Amino acid sequence: MTRMGSPLGSSLLCLGFLSLVLSTCSSYSDLDVLIKLKAAFTGPGGSGLHDWVAPNSSAASPTAHCSFSGVSCDGDSRVVSLCVAFVPLFGYIPPEIGLLDRLVNLTLAADNLTGKIPLEMAKLTSLRFLNLSNNILLNGSFPGEILTGMTELEVLDIYNNNFTGSLPAEPAVLKKLRVLLLGGNYFSGEIPESFAEIEGLQYFGVQGKKPTFKIFHHE
Ligand SMILES: *[C@@H]1O[C@H](CO)[C@@H](O)[C@H](O)[C@H]1NC(C)=O
Ligand SMILES: *[C@@H]1O[C@H](CO)[C@@H](O)[C@H](O)[C@H]1NC(C)=O
Ligand SMILES: *[C@@H]1O[C@H](CO)[C@@H](O)[C@H](O)[C@H]1NC(C)=O
Ligand SMILES: *[C@@H]1O[C@H](CO)[C@@H](O)[C@H](O)[C@H]1NC(C)=O
Ligand SMILES: *[C@@H]1O[C@H](CO)[C@@H](O)[C@H](O)[C@H]1NC(C)=O
Ligand SMILES: *[C@@H]1O[C@H](CO)[C@@H](O)[C@H](O)[C@H]1NC(C)=O
Repeated sequence: MTRMGSPLGSSLLCLGFLSLVLSTCSSYSDLDVLIKLKAAFTGPGGSGLHDWVAPNSSAASPTAHCSFSGVSCDGDSRVVSLCVAFVPLFGYIPPEIGLLDRLVNLTLAADNLTGKIPLEMAKLTSLRFLNLSNNILLNGSFPGEILTGMTELEVLDIYNNNFTGSLPAEPAVLKKLRVLLLGGNYFSGEIPESFAEIEGLQYFGVQGKKPTFKIFHHE
């Protein structure tokens, strides 16, 4: 099954049902997803991603999205890396991010993003690097359940946001985790004891904006 070469008829049919069956629609290409992401990432007063523009004929340029700034693809023109840092976007992370299910690297850092982490990120089970740091407007609780399927995750950096509530305990099940940076938020409560069982952990940070926790040194 190829994602890019679908006939026009099925694309149109697909668009008709998009709002109903977003995730089962195979003609919803990574190009379409990136255009959706751009619209959501860029809030009022935000700017950036100027070269994320759909080609006039995506059939003629099936790899056009792979040269958008911050985007890299694999041999199937599926997005494997999305790294956008220090761009004043002032938007939010939309649920469509979950459709980029071959992502290995996702860095949306220092982009002034706001709002909540969409639960659809749970579909990003190939991720090795997840860096959402320094979006001081990202708020609400961190939905730890999105992490349980990310068995390849090596780096989780959500430093310096406005997350509240309890610390996610789920990182403890991630056997490949090397770097876990949860500090600079408003988490409260206990540091999960299970964190001490993450064998490969090299860097751990949890110091909040308020002195809620004692600093934890991993031996
Ligand atoms: C689409 O076509 C118009 C007019 O031919 C051209 O000016 C524009 O640059 C094209 N856009 C892209 C992304 O190729
Ligand atoms: C992902 O990011 C890491 C660290 O920044 C880098 O070493 C690696 O090459 C990146 N991988 C891809 C597929 O972009
Ligand atoms: C936008 O983000 C940058 C980098 O984190 C930060 O220095 C700046 O203060 C932010 N701007 C606003 C208006 O929040
Ligand atoms: C996350 O991204 C920020 C901004 O690019 C960078 O400074 C930071 O080192 C990254 N975190 C990790 C763990 O690589
Ligand atoms: C982030 O937290 C600070 C301190 O509690 C607060 O002043 C600010 O309004 C919060 N921002 C958002 C967008 O929730
Ligand atoms: C998060 O920030 C948004 C936008 O600033 C605000 O409307 C919302 O109430 C905040 N939510 C929480 C839980 O702080």
